[in-house]
Amino acid sequence: MAIRYAPESVVKEAAASIHQPRDPNTLANYNAWRTKHTTADFEIDFDAKRLKGTVHLTLARLAKGEKKVVLDTSYLDVLGVKIGGSQARFDVSTSRMEPYGSPLTISLDGQHGSDTDSDLTLSIGVQTTKDCTALQWLTPAQTSNKKHPYMFSQCQAIHARSLFPCQDTPDVKSTYTFNIRSPLPVLASGLPTGPKDFSPGSNGKPGTLLYTFHQAIPMPSYLFALASGDLACASIGPRSTVWTGPEELKASQWEFEKDTEAYIQAAEKIVYPYAWTTYNVLVLPPSFPYGGMENPVYTFATPTVVSGDRENVDVIAHELSHSWSGNLVSNASWEHFWLNEGWTTYLERRLQAAIHGSDQHRDFSAIIGWKALSDSIAQFGEDHNFTKLIPDLKGQDPDDAFSSIPYEKGFVFLYQLEKLLGMEKWDKFIPHYFTTYKQRSVDSFEFKATLLSFFSSDADVSKKLNDIDWDEKFYKPGFPPKPDFDTTLADQCYELADKWTKLNVDETSKFAPSENDIDGFTANQSVVFLEALQGIDKPLSPELVDLMGQRYGYAQSKNVELVTRYFVVGLQAGAKSVYQPTAELLGKVGRMKFVRPLYKELMKRDYELAQKTFQDNSDFYHPICRGMVEKLFEKHAKA
Ligand code: BES
Ligand code: ZN
Repeated sequence: MAIRYAPESVVKEAAASIHQPRDPNTLANYNAWRTKHTTADFEIDFDAKRLKGTVHLTLARLAKGEKKVVLDTSYLDVLGVKIGGSQARFDVSTSRMEPYGSPLTISLDGQHGSDTDSDLTLSIGVQTTKDCTALQWLTPAQTSNKKHPYMFSQCQAIHARSLFPCQDTPDVKSTYTFNIRSPLPVLASGLPTGPKDFSPGSNGKPGTLLYTFHQAIPMPSYLFALASGDLACASIGPRSTVWTGPEELKASQWEFEKDTEAYIQAAEKIVYPYAWTTYNVLVLPPSFPYGGMENPVYTFATPTVVSGDRENVDVIAHELSHSWSGNLVSNASWEHFWLNEGWTTYLERRLQAAIHGSDQHRDFSAIIGWKALSDSIAQFGEDHNFTKLIPDLKGQDPDDAFSSIPYEKGFVFLYQLEKLLGMEKWDKFIPHYFTTYKQRSVDSFEFKATLLSFFSSDADVSKKLNDIDWDEKFYKPGFPPKPDFDTTLADQCYELADKWTKLNVDETSKFAPSENDIDGFTANQSVVFLEALQGIDKPLSPELVDLMGQRYGYAQSKNVELVTRYFVVGLQAGAKSVYQPTAELLGKVGRMKFVRPLYKELMKRDYELAQKTFQDNSDFYHPICRGMVEKLFEKHAKA
């Protein structure tokens, strides 16, 4: 397939705008400096629960005459700054500029002053504090085999600044060297580079090894990642391994070994060859707050994807897809997050279709997505800024704007473009777009310009693209037009849900639920069935919920996607049988996708139990998740 390149003008304009301060969520003066390389020398101190070390930043000078470097920091101890071996003057703002943290200002004078145009290398001594929002530290008792401590990072969206001073914006990309000392195995978002240097411990402390990694592809700060703990690994494909606790290794290997390489090859066919050499998965402890995080080389994943039925590998298809959308081509700011997540959701579903050999599966997944979109729009309100494809995030915390909207509204937009242009033409644009912006950051206006320019010599497509109301697409809040999805796989779920709602209101209904009703259902079809019973006008009676839990085996299901939906149906019905199991589940999983709806519903039904559950487990949750639940309690108290 011949790839056509965008005209010089588009590429030039895009390149020029890379250095504009188009990201409102950073305090760094990144229009004057651009990080080219970052070396992180850290020691992981499990006893003190902190990272300590030195970070070296090589900055390219973009503007002559600039007398200071401003970097993002948040709840960080800056111990000293050196420029070329000599101490430099620096100041960390004492008052925080919420939600962005405390800018670190480094003054340049003398030889480093404004008249040179050479690169600048800063060495910054730094340690994290107990308020660090990017790390979770687990005691041995909090891990599955209870033998060793564990730590992991989660930097997206703006938490990298709480690990080390940086230009914490996706509009800046740097290569990385990681030199990490730890008593336990370490993974980082680069390729491992041996050998490891051993240092014996003293004063009863265990010895440490130096683990080194290199990331030669420039990446934004939010993809910086570390994890350390009792880790073992097994192969899940010719260029892939899975890492997890030794006891969980076999199950994790089984979950992923069938699909990982097939997904990589499917994605390579749609876009172009995988760039990051190996693709691996780290399965984290259950407090990991997301389903997955696309850290380069090592996707971080919740253990709830290891459900024993390979029904949640779509998370892997998703994180893998970020290897192109997000990690090679990155959103220029969190306002353009749909370019990361909408594109990734689009690619993820193309992979589903490729693996299953039919579009029915991708449309089934899109139907689940549409429900998530409706829930998010309902949560914010139809006119809310955060329901726009491009929200205004000036002064906002991107974590507060996070929802299914950029995923699903972004997906729907790309799906509609595919249908409008026809698959054949659209599929030529995909590699072109990912080539044009490879190793760069992109905003929605560049996306539009590149699309229009690619098809400029095709009169038919050009007309269609020019007829799009782009302002409406980008800025209209609320629902986009609903595509005509293939409902084949969802219809059986809706029909079954109908029978239950009728049974609930009509005593003469002849429907007698039996386990055969869900014969041949996948777990995700049960999810769609259960979602159709959420938020209905007359919730099911508690007796019917109990009957369903028994007949369909939902009450005992190990699939957390499924059981969470069942508990929400049960809580909305006031079925007491699910209250205690909900509280127990909330002590076992810290993935926010499940934690949020379960607390929301439990609070309404049994506030005391919800409160007690939170008190008992607040140490278990990741700081971001804990903060989210605290906000839910505040909101509930106000209502
Ligand atoms: N990059 C996201 C996770 C994320 C987004 C973390 C914003 C922090 C801030 C990741 O790729 C993702 O979308 N995860 C989903 C997986 C799902 C869509 C398959 C999740 O966590 O549920
Ligand atoms: Zn994603």
